[in-house]
Amino acid sequence: MSSNHSEINVLEFENQSLGDRHIATEIADLLKQKQAEGKMAVLGLATGSSVLGVYKELIRMHKEEGLSFKNAITFNLDEYYPISKDHKQSYHTYMSEKLFSHVDILPENAHLPDGTKTDKNKEVLCKEYEDKIAQAGGIDLQLLGIGRNGHIGFNEPGSSIESETRLIELDSVTRNDAAPAFGGLENTPTHAITMGVASILRAKKIILMAWSTNKASIISKVIKSDPTSDIPATFLKTVANVTFVLDKEAASEIGK
Ligand code: GLP
Repeated sequence: MSSNHSEINVLEFENQSLGDRHIATEIADLLKQKQAEGKMAVLGLATGSSVLGVYKELIRMHKEEGLSFKNAITFNLDEYYPISKDHKQSYHTYMSEKLFSHVDILPENAHLPDGTKTDKNKEVLCKEYEDKIAQAGGIDLQLLGIGRNGHIGFNEPGSSIESETRLIELDSVTRNDAAPAFGGLENTPTHAITMGVASILRAKKIILMAWSTNKASIISKVIKSDPTSDIPATFLKTVANVTFVLDKEAASEIGK
């Protein structure tokens, strides 16, 4: 079922696995189309539980159908700070375990913000990340999950529409959601490096996915609200080519 809420195109699926398959197929089609043109496909990737099914389906397509990632350049949205790359909960570890080590992407083409503690100027490091995205030709397809407070990447409430890749202090909702994985709030990072709202909005196409009743309330709020930094995901309404892919539970409060 497809419908339009404000500027956002909403695709609602009977269950998550149908949604996962739809998104994975879009990614596979982009990779194949670019391959046929002899070009690289630039993917903006996300972490969290929402994207896991999509990554599983992409791995299946690689193993069973020969889908290749040799022409993929990827940029992840965010990484905790400070965190070592090999920390169990780092997004570097997540990406390696959940996708990269199972497909034929070239390691030098997979980028994530570096959350390693350093005295180097963070602004310079963040600018370098933006430059790399620009040098790759910009992001063709950006995947997003959504935080229960409406964050995209780690652009917490208060983030401006003009924000670029930067160091940000995590919201208490976000830290509490992450705490069990880190073995308690005291072990949970206080900061993260995230692509900014502006960096995300520059993508040529954006897919935000949300599954289950856990996300029903924030999805309905985003669809109802005008663009506001109180709910950063509402800024997605300011650009074309954004699709929300939802299961029926995540869509269940739309219009209420
Ligand atoms: C983290 C990530 C976000 C993600 C969000 C939701 O905060 N930085 O990019 O969208 O979690 O996570 P989940 O998909 O597990 O609900």
